[in-house]
Amino acid sequence: SQIHQPPRAALSMTFKRQFLQSVAALSVGLFLSGCGKTTPTPVAAEPAASAPAAPAPAAKVITVGTDPTYAPFEFQNEKGEIVGFDIDVLRAAAQKAGLEVKFVSTPWEGAFTALAQGDRDVLVSAITITDERKQTMDFSDPYFEASQLIAVPAASTVSKLDDLKNKKIGVQTGTTGEEVVVKLQGKTSTNIKRFESTPLALAELAAGGVDAVVADNGVVTHYLANNPSAGFKSITDAGFAPEFYGVALKKGNTELLAQINKGLADIKADGSYQAINDKYFKQAK
Ligand code: ARG
Repeated sequence: SQIHQPPRAALSMTFKRQFLQSVAALSVGLFLSGCGKTTPTPVAAEPAASAPAAPAPAAKVITVGTDPTYAPFEFQNEKGEIVGFDIDVLRAAAQKAGLEVKFVSTPWEGAFTALAQGDRDVLVSAITITDERKQTMDFSDPYFEASQLIAVPAASTVSKLDDLKNKKIGVQTGTTGEEVVVKLQGKTSTNIKRFESTPLALAELAAGGVDAVVADNGVVTHYLANNPSAGFKSITDAGFAPEFYGVALKKGNTELLAQINKGLADIKADGSYQAINDKYFKQAK
């Protein structure tokens, strides 16, 4: 399934809401005081207070595009559900803003077009905020700092980006990793091998088809930790600029942008952002 299933708690809330609505439709008022609450309420006491509260208005659902090939930020678990750091962050922020989120697997290469066309309300996909992208889309406040990182076979003599000047490099098409490599080798270099996902680029490195992969540090680090048999090491470069991830929105969608920024600020303030960060990036396990 490409569509993320809501977690159990959300499911049961939805179920309860739907159940309440159908019960209400049958006008079986007596059931309401018992079914709508998690703790039983004595029916006899205070008849006035036992009247059920009106069901909360359904939260607005926003469609979120993400390319779930980017663990630990967005990936699919064994059940095919879209999960990850970005997913948790956006869901938590949206919840603060009274929004419900529906994650839709969206290939990276088509994602910005899908956003511009209104097929997705927002994108969350470890997207680096860049001046160029800001021309065609809006970004939330940054929610994560990253940088590029080089993956090479453990025996490689590469020790900095410049050592890759004449080497074959795998990148994911249309990423900031590609930008870095294009700057190094030139746009038309035949040594730049573009892939539709970062895992495909890393698989090519394992197969010996490229000498290095340049991608976001979190993803490279996660891959190395989870695939020790690949025998890669990572190399940083002093020239790699700090990058900041943001939630992307269609240009001019200021109301939703404000809601998301408010939600992000709220989860930073109340510690839930930190808890999500610890869940995915805590060193000691
Ligand atoms: N941060 C990089 C960029 O914005 C790579 C993001 C790729 N994300 C993904 N889910 N494939 O270009």
